[in-house]
Amino acid sequence: MIKTLMASIREYKKDSILTPLFVTLEVILEVLIPFFMAGIIDIGLANADMPFTIRMGLTLTVAAVLSLICGALSGKYAAKASAGFAKNLRKDMFYRIQGFSFSNIDKFSPESLVTRLTTDVTNVQNAYQMIIRILIRGPVMLIFALVMAVGINRELSMIFFCAIPILGFGLFFIAIKAHPHFEKVFRTYDFLNGVVREDVTAIRTVKSYVREDYEISIFKKISKQVFDRFVNAEKIVAWNAPLMQFTMYVSILLISWLAGELIVQEEMTTGQLMSMIVYATQILSSLMMLSMVFVMIIIAASSARRIVEVLTEESSLKDPENPVEVVKDGSIDFDNVNFSYSGDSNKCSLHDISIHIKSGETIGIIGSTGSAKSTLVQLIPRLYDATTGSVKVGGIDVREYGLDAIRSQVAMVLQKNTLFSGTIKENLRWGNPNATDEEIKKACILSQADEFVSAFPDGYDTYIEQGGTNVSGGQKQRLCIARALLRNPKILILDDSTSAVDTKTDAMIRKAFREDIPNTTKIIIAQRISSVEDADKVIVMDGGRIDAFDTPENLMKTNKIYREVYESQVNGGKNE
Ligand SMILES: Nc1ncnc2c1ncn2[C@@H]1O[C@H](COP(=O)(O)OP(=O)(O)O)[C@@H](O)[C@H]1O
Ligand SMILES: [Mg+2]
Repeated sequence: MIKTLMASIREYKKDSILTPLFVTLEVILEVLIPFFMAGIIDIGLANADMPFTIRMGLTLTVAAVLSLICGALSGKYAAKASAGFAKNLRKDMFYRIQGFSFSNIDKFSPESLVTRLTTDVTNVQNAYQMIIRILIRGPVMLIFALVMAVGINRELSMIFFCAIPILGFGLFFIAIKAHPHFEKVFRTYDFLNGVVREDVTAIRTVKSYVREDYEISIFKKISKQVFDRFVNAEKIVAWNAPLMQFTMYVSILLISWLAGELIVQEEMTTGQLMSMIVYATQILSSLMMLSMVFVMIIIAASSARRIVEVLTEESSLKDPENPVEVVKDGSIDFDNVNFSYSGDSNKCSLHDISIHIKSGETIGIIGSTGSAKSTLVQLIPRLYDATTGSVKVGGIDVREYGLDAIRSQVAMVLQKNTLFSGTIKENLRWGNPNATDEEIKKACILSQADEFVSAFPDGYDTYIEQGGTNVSGGQKQRLCIARALLRNPKILILDDSTSAVDTKTDAMIRKAFREDIPNTTKIIIAQRISSVEDADKVIVMDGGRIDAFDTPENLMKTNKIYREVYESQVNGGKNE
């Protein structure tokens, strides 16, 4: 895990090494200061040696200033190293995610990917900064201060050797106790994130169902839970301070008491006593720092784990060794295809699918929601791979094509399609970056979008807001169809893509398809029977199986599901 994370430090290695270097210098200087002070008191003042006192005083000042500068530098480098590390982590994750297949994304869910890219990276960034500064500072200070203390008086230093294990054990115990509470806090925090995101992204739905109060109550409940759990965790950590102070004051008392006798016996000086007391504070506070970093690292560990999960996730779709780059034609063959989203063959969403579609045919697909219509067509551009059996396009298994080759020839308008922020033209050029203005206009005429686009004051330069909120559902669908058409695909799949378009426009789109792109295989998933009535053949889906695959006329005579849908829609219309 650590190795995977470290790989993202890259160009910030220098800063990551300079930080502990300056921290070490800072600490050494800090530890030397009491030593100089002892010199001033014991030699300079005791003997009234003015030149010595001034010399020592100057040395002390220089040491203090240098230590300050080192501290500032270490702070600067630590900030740069940790922010740079975080930047690289985000970049690496983002690149990984771009390579994810649909099933990789299903596994993580977009919400959790967002949390991992933001909150988790921030946690790791903070921990990293702590590690390169405090985790170095603590032990270095502990060791140097101890060495200096032993140098002054070996017997008195024994007090530290008793106090350190007591305090160390106590702090460790507290950290271990607090850990599960912090884990709980962060799990609840994740949950809170999820709730907030769900509510905010669906705020329109929430409002139209007047569910604000309900959402607020849920939010309050979880907020309170986060609060309670955080307080619980902090309550335990709060024991750190009294424990630390108790040990420190007991140590200082013991030192003063024992040193008092030594001073009377002239085996120790006042200056040395003072230094010992400063070392006591330094040693014990370095332990305290260590325990705090320990808690931080524990908190960040779960974030780090979640980041590494993304970084090490292998895309489930890979280009083959010698990919076929040319798609011969738009014929499609499903041979004994079974498909399961989880890969578990007991929970198949598609069962035993075998169909053969000729290049240039128009195929309709109908079936109730959940009958796996979308699932079926997603296998064609290889958004998912068949679990068993094979899907062929142009007579060749889709797994043998380069991913780019197959996807550029199979254009799919997804059921939940999105436009991105940018002008209409920019959005349409997703389909083909080199499309000329005429080609864009032509695609829009085909998809019946030209009329309303031209009516906008800015025409094709109209700005689409993020998520496409400033165009209607039907307009968005037509733009998405135009975008797909610009690819000049051999296969065009419309997954319920005209549901928000009126029947007349829908018919015009199909007519345009028939006349202008006769060689493209067209697959149209629809709720309305009228959308598939003029297709060459229609697939009737039922519970992940093909119920029938025939011409609309034959289906009318032979297929119960088709006839029922027809009658409910056509007769229902007549009775109105
Ligand atoms: N990403 C997914 N992960 C797991 N199961 C899914 C996923 N998408 C759809 N399903 C399941 O597959 C079945 C078919 O769904 P779908 O193909 O979307 O139906 P349709 O398009 O006909 O409404 C449903 O039971 C649905 O719950
Ligand atoms: Mg669907």
